[in-house]
Amino acid sequence: AKVRHYNFDVEYFFKSVDCFEQLVMGINGQFPGPTIRAEVGDILDINVTNKLSTEGTSIHWHGIRQYGTPWADGSVSISQCAINPGETFNYRFKLNKAGTYFYHGHNGLQVTGGLYGSIIVDLPNGQKEPFHYDDEINLLLSDWWHKSIQEQDVGLTNSIETFRWVWEPQTYRIRIASTASLLSLNLAISNHNMVVVEADGNYVEPFTVDKIDIYSGESYSVLLTTDQNPNQNYWISVGHRDDNVSTTQALTLLNYKGISASILPSFPPPITPPWYDVEERLAFTNKVVALKGTPQPPKYSQRRIHLLGNQDLIDGYLRWGMNGISLSLPSTPYLGSIKFNLTDAFDWNDPPETFPRDYDIYNPPTIHNLVMGNMVYKFQLNEVVDVILQNANSLALNSTAFHPWHLHGHEFWVLGYGNGTFKDGDDEKLFNLKNPPLKNTVVIFPYGWTAIRFRADNPGVWAFHCHMEPHYHTGMGVVFAEGVEYVKRIPEQALACGLTAKMLMNKEGLL
Ligand code: C2O
Ligand code: CU
Repeated sequence: AKVRHYNFDVEYFFKSVDCFEQLVMGINGQFPGPTIRAEVGDILDINVTNKLSTEGTSIHWHGIRQYGTPWADGSVSISQCAINPGETFNYRFKLNKAGTYFYHGHNGLQVTGGLYGSIIVDLPNGQKEPFHYDDEINLLLSDWWHKSIQEQDVGLTNSIETFRWVWEPQTYRIRIASTASLLSLNLAISNHNMVVVEADGNYVEPFTVDKIDIYSGESYSVLLTTDQNPNQNYWISVGHRDDNVSTTQALTLLNYKGISASILPSFPPPITPPWYDVEERLAFTNKVVALKGTPQPPKYSQRRIHLLGNQDLIDGYLRWGMNGISLSLPSTPYLGSIKFNLTDAFDWNDPPETFPRDYDIYNPPTIHNLVMGNMVYKFQLNEVVDVILQNANSLALNSTAFHPWHLHGHEFWVLGYGNGTFKDGDDEKLFNLKNPPLKNTVVIFPYGWTAIRFRADNPGVWAFHCHMEPHYHTGMGVVFAEGVEYVKRIPEQALACGLTAKMLMNKEGLL
C-alpha cells in the first residue's frame, strides 16, 4: 500500500464544454478534475486549495467510507468548515474497497458548476475481479448547464477516454458514474449488450441489458464485448429521464478501430426510454442483487425511521423537507459541535422518526407545516437501522420526482421498493434479506417507498440526502450521528469556523 499525494487547486476558468464558452469550475485547469487511480489499502493525501475568489468549497469522496477519518468526508457544515478562498485543506484517508467512485464539491451548487472527477480503486496486485475483461473505459456522465439551474437549458457532457476498439473482439469494462447535478440518465448502445457487474463499489449478480439507468450519485461497471460487424460504428445514446426537461439525447460513437470515427452509422441511434416509464425503470432496478458472497444484512433492525419527503413553501420560498423539517445547515460543523457538546451550535432535540400515517402521498400537502431545522438523528454505535424513504406528490398537482438518496460514511442494503405508503408488517414481509445489493445511493420511485438497512458502525456525523443538488440545497436531507465520543484528533482546520473556532481560541487564551 502506498500514500498517494495530490494537489488540487479548485478554480474557475473559461472552457467550451459543449460549443459554448463559459466559466467552468474545475481542478488544476482540468474539467472534469483529474482521475484518481489507486489500490485498496492505499492512503490518499490530497491538499485542496481554494482558488475561487468569492466562495468557500470542499470536496466529498463519494462512496469512500472514511472509517476513522470522519473529518475528511468533505461535507461543509457537517464534517468540516468550508475551505475559504486562499486556504488549503488536507484530506488524508484510507481506501478500503475496490470499485468505481467519484469525488465532487459539497458546498452550494458546485457540482452544477463542474466540480467533480473519477476515483478508481483497484484490487491489490495479484487479486482478481470475479469477471474477466481485456481493457477498460471510464465514463463520467453528467448534466451540463449553460446559465442558471433554473433555466431548463441543459446539455450533457461525457468524458470518454480512448473510445476506440481494437479489431479483435475484446471485452471491456466500462466504468460509469453519474455526477449529474439533477437529471436521471439512461445510457443505451446500439447492437451491443452490457453485462452489469458492479454497482456503487460492490459486485452484483451479473445481468444483461441493452440500456442502463443511472441516477445522480450512482456508479456501475458493465462489460461490453466488441463482437459486432467491425466495418461500421455504433451509436451510444445518453438520455435524461426527467419530467419537464426538453433536452435531446446526447450522442457519441462506439468506434471499431479500423474504420474512421467520423463515419456515422446508417441506422438511427437507440432511443432511451421516456421519464414516465416507471415500470421499465423498476424492472432494471430490481435486477440489481448482490453477488454471492456479499455480506448479508442482519435479520432484524433495532430501529426504524420513516422519512416522508415533500415539498412546500416556507415564507414564500420553495423548500423540500423530511418529516416536516427542511434541512438548513448550521454555521458550525456538526462533527465539532457534537464532539465538544456545543449546545448552542444547532437544535439538539430529536427529529421526528415518522410522519402522520394518514398523510395523502398522492396529493400536494394540505397542512402547511414545513419548517426549517437542523436536528440530528443520533444512533447508538453499531445500532442496526432501517430507513424507509417515502416519496410523495410535490407541491404542484400531479407532480413527482425520482429522488436518488446518498448516505455518507456507510453502505446500506437495499431491502426493497414498493408502491404507495409503506405498511409496517405487511410490506416488510417483502424485504429481500437474502441477496439485497449493498449500495451508497438508491432511488425512490414516484408515490413509492424504498427500504434500506445499515449498521451505524462509523463514528462520526454523516449526511443522508437526495443527490439532486438543487434538492439537497433546498432542504432535502437529514443528518445522522453515531459514536462521536470515539472520534479522536479532529484536525483543527476542520473546526476553524463558527463556535468551534471560538472554542479553540478560548483554549489558546486568545479570547
Ligand atoms: Cu455525492 Cu453528499 O454527496
Ligand atoms: Cu430529490
